[in-house]
Amino acid sequence: MKKTAIVLSIIATGSAALAHGGVKNRDVLARMEVMSAIGQQMKVIGSMAKGEADFDADAVNAALIEIAAQSAQVPAMFETPATDPKSEALPVIWEQWDRFTEDAREAETVAERLAGSVSDPSDLGPVLGQLGATCKACHATYRE
Ligand code: HEC
Repeated sequence: MKKTAIVLSIIATGSAALAHGGVKNRDVLARMEVMSAIGQQMKVIGSMAKGEADFDADAVNAALIEIAAQSAQVPAMFETPATDPKSEALPVIWEQWDRFTEDAREAETVAERLAGSVSDPSDLGPVLGQLGATCKACHATYRE
């Protein structure tokens, strides 16, 4: 359950930034919205792991498919090195573009692999742990 707690804290940190208030750059807004969508899907899974929502294997598997699809958009969404005072993206993204896109592909691959694998509430912790590690890996280097 320790990993679940870590992942849930990632989600909580993310949702604090969800307002998008005052973001003027359209490219920045678009990529934030992709990340928000990923964060929302993680919340669907996280709230079941915390017992705040009833376990629903189909909903978890659907959330994983959605995370894979959104993660596939990440390279295209970040391709333009757009900036905005509200952005949390670090410039190193565009200096290490290949590594950044590899991190995105890793999130996509892991979500895709986990999709369909969930049938029991005990699957939620490992799913959040494995997928959360891919979020964390990218955020640690590329997000403020
Ligand atoms: C390839 C790198 C990468 C991966 C993988 C990644 N993120 Fe992000 N994420 C970012 C960057 C960069 C930002 C900051 C974007 C900005 O502010 O311009 C961000 C921002 C966010 C935000 C805040 C969005 C907002 O509204 O400002 C949330 C929530 C988020 N990520 C959740 C997740 C979750 C959950 C995962 C894993 C399933 C994940 N991210 C995987 C790079 C990544």
